[in-house]
Amino acid sequence: MKTPYERPAIVRHAMGMMNKLGRALAQRPMTHIDGVAIEDLVARYGSPLFVFSERTLVERYRELHDAFSRRWPKLRIAWSYKTNYLSGVCKTFHQEGAWAEVVSPFEWEKAVHLGVAPDHVHWNGPFKPEEALERALVAGTMVHIDHFDELASIERIAARRGIRPKVAIRINLTTDTVQGWSRFGFNLESGQARDAALRIVAGDRMELVGLHCHLGTFIQEADAYRQAARKLALFANELRATHGTRITFIDLGGGFASQNALKAQYLPSEQATPPFSRYAEAIADGLSAIDAPPSELPTLVLETGRALVDEAGHLITSVIANKRLPDGRRGLVVDAGVNVLFTSFWYRHDVVPTRELRGMPEPTVIYGPLCMNIDEIRETMQLPPLSVGDRLVLRNVGAYNVTQWMQFITYRPAVVMVGSNGKHALLRRAEALEDVIALEEVPAWMP
Ligand SMILES: Cc1ncc(COP(=O)(O)O)c(C=O)c1O
Repeated sequence: MKTPYERPAIVRHAMGMMNKLGRALAQRPMTHIDGVAIEDLVARYGSPLFVFSERTLVERYRELHDAFSRRWPKLRIAWSYKTNYLSGVCKTFHQEGAWAEVVSPFEWEKAVHLGVAPDHVHWNGPFKPEEALERALVAGTMVHIDHFDELASIERIAARRGIRPKVAIRINLTTDTVQGWSRFGFNLESGQARDAALRIVAGDRMELVGLHCHLGTFIQEADAYRQAARKLALFANELRATHGTRITFIDLGGGFASQNALKAQYLPSEQATPPFSRYAEAIADGLSAIDAPPSELPTLVLETGRALVDEAGHLITSVIANKRLPDGRRGLVVDAGVNVLFTSFWYRHDVVPTRELRGMPEPTVIYGPLCMNIDEIRETMQLPPLSVGDRLVLRNVGAYNVTQWMQFITYRPAVVMVGSNGKHALLRRAEALEDVIALEEVPAWMP
């Protein structure tokens, strides 16, 4: 076969194929996902295409479960719906025993629709409309109270319905290593969390059983969790000593980092992202400050999102054009844009070809297909020449993209799952014009 012509290029010497950590920048091609040929998937479902590996979802879930259940006697994992609420993904986790963690009436309804018992749902978030809150409380959902106005709302509901719901409070706190999010829940250090607990205990309209803290997201410092767990444990001790309150669960939220690399990250993610065991050791150590007999130790609840699902998700995209930019870099235009890959704004996503690439790697920027300047899905990376029609796989994209994506300029692509049984099937079909116009109306006065 005749080798295709390659335009000669003078490439400024860069720290070539190796960095000082010995990691080759050249990626081995990825031709299959769990034994299914990527080309077959594209031929069947089109490009771009999200592909989820059922095997990886289950493996990550079991890894998380094992790491924590070895170190703390009572564990519950509640799947964070906002991270990825595709039914097939949620069901995979529920089959493994996960409860649901939701942050809106829509997510609550979706979880219940999927067969999750309402009393196996934790409900977080700053906005829980009173009507939806009432329905959830009556059904036994565990509500994590975010602010005093919500507390008042639950007091009203309890009085109206003659119920005494079990509730939790969300707490924000400080640690030495990460700046925790302070806008959600009651602050611990200022005494606000104490005031909230006192109001619940004194009002006697509900029973305080849980303490919750979600520090933030993509937290690579396991020690932050040690401090948060210890602070919650000591607070539980204080509540027991002062009010006789028995805290039956402590929820450390989500926030574990996945195998992605943040844009500003220096170390590769294999080194920067702690394994689940490191988070588990830190949390178990912090929780050991609990002063309770073994039979009364609280259940540890986790709401891990991205670290459970990111690695299972791939985005297959096709090259639609090559360009030379005025500054000499190569520009590659692909058919997946930031509207379906929201995470490209803060991650340096792993980009892997699906065939062996020949030719000199050169600095290349990957643009999406949108007629918008911001549509850059990978800033400069070293890539050998690619041809129109070549595929690239963007790895670790399972979290937040298929919930935060936008129907903008293009239709949203199909999402498929490759099953542990080697079969593949749709999780969501690609959008078409009918889907987009289905919600629209044209005013009757228009011709
Ligand atoms: C309350 C709560 N729990 C869990 C999560 C999941 O977090 P992550 O995906 O970082 O694990 C989030 C996400 O922000 C959250 O707000």
